[in-house]
Amino acid sequence: MPFQRRSWAEPFKIKVVEPLTMTTREEREKHITEAGYNTFLLKSKDVYIDLLTDSGTNAMSDNQWAGMMMGDEAYAGSVNYYHLEEKVQEFYGYKFLVPTHQGRGAEHIISKILIKPGDYVPGNMYFTTTRLHQELNGGKFVDIIIDEAHDSQNLHPFKGNVDLQKLENLITKVGGKKIAYVTIGATVNMAGGQPISMENLRQVRALTSKHGIKVVLDATRAMENAYFIKRREKGYENKSIKEILLEICSYSDAATMSGKKDLLVNIGGFLALNDNDVFEEARNMVVVYEGLHTYGGLAGRDMEAMARGIVEACQVDHLQARIGQIEYVGNRLIELGIPIVRPIGGHAIFLDAKQFYPHLEQLKFPAQTLAAELYLDSGIRSMERGIVSAGRNKETGDHYYPKLELVRLTFPRRVYTQAHCDVTVESVYEVFQNRNNVRGLKMVYEPKYLRFFQARFDKL
Ligand code: F0G
Repeated sequence: MPFQRRSWAEPFKIKVVEPLTMTTREEREKHITEAGYNTFLLKSKDVYIDLLTDSGTNAMSDNQWAGMMMGDEAYAGSVNYYHLEEKVQEFYGYKFLVPTHQGRGAEHIISKILIKPGDYVPGNMYFTTTRLHQELNGGKFVDIIIDEAHDSQNLHPFKGNVDLQKLENLITKVGGKKIAYVTIGATVNMAGGQPISMENLRQVRALTSKHGIKVVLDATRAMENAYFIKRREKGYENKSIKEILLEICSYSDAATMSGKKDLLVNIGGFLALNDNDVFEEARNMVVVYEGLHTYGGLAGRDMEAMARGIVEACQVDHLQARIGQIEYVGNRLIELGIPIVRPIGGHAIFLDAKQFYPHLEQLKFPAQTLAAELYLDSGIRSMERGIVSAGRNKETGDHYYPKLELVRLTFPRRVYTQAHCDVTVESVYEVFQNRNNVRGLKMVYEPKYLRFFQARFDKL
């Protein structure tokens, strides 16, 4: 390997710090038992390195904090709304903006407008809140991602791709009129933060156009997807992230957005659209569920931070450090023989709990168990992304049994150091050494919706 003077080193330095709590194993035993072995129910003060999510946990820049002071907290027509609108138009290319408090606010509105009971909503793998809003509006989600995405070891560079044959088969079977829209995630969270290729996006657009079907992009981590396209897809090496992002968005009619990820803020989201009629309807609806159409549940300062976040997040230096940090952790784990989803994704490392604990059947919740063990070992908080997250089939009441039974180590942007990364790797390795002593969990409380957030477990 040639000597690299600067690999993924961060293009920023630290100005403000937040102290972390160190706990003993004995204290952690108590905390995880009280939390019903669910890392969502831990108190954050009892967590050392918090890798639960990259959502709303990012560090804002001095420029974003300065923008917070420029919040125009008018009820209507805030300056910051117009600034955000300008940046969404410039970077994402959609004509109309409806701000929402976060991503699921946008999912709620678009699902309500476009889905009729009995409709189908195909997508490149489900996401928890997205699918639930589709189902609550009478839609039926159909997974049309390529098979490779369900195989944690397959090295396909674009595991977020749509299987066009699966989409075409659905159209032939139910007819284009019964398809409310196609949801495209970029990147695909539940597959391991895997990107979709530009070529595939283009093909999805061509096929859906032929049948008059709309495409709704989940743009939550689309900048990270753009970075993968720049690195992996021929013809995009010399394009800017901004150009690539605009092209990604150009193959869709609308986008739902959780600004809490890509956009380096702690709260915020939006729905962006091109169709005037749908925009009209969305603007009517946002005032019912979120807030007036020029703030949608956000303070002026939050919209300003998001507008500035768009510009910062689109810098290639930022994305190189962001994804470089995750690749650093992933490559070290691979060297140690730890089973993780490959290729390494954009926002997280996903431990393959089925391979980690081959002696645990899926109903003993191997991923939930692994997340608890990791917390016990070092105070690191991760998230289950397996059978608990997948929930139950609404019609039959049975558990979904996803092929992927994963634990997500999700990295907030601009928050943790390389030494924190090393502690994480060492802790995963320690838990791996002790894997044969683990017996799994049983679920003792199950909430009705999005059960992973609040379910409780006991040791077997
Ligand atoms: N779409 C994707 C791909 C997401 O990852 C999320 C949130 C949402 C939509 C919903 O956005 O939280 O702002 O309402 N994902 C978080 C996570 C919760 O931890 O992956 P939201």
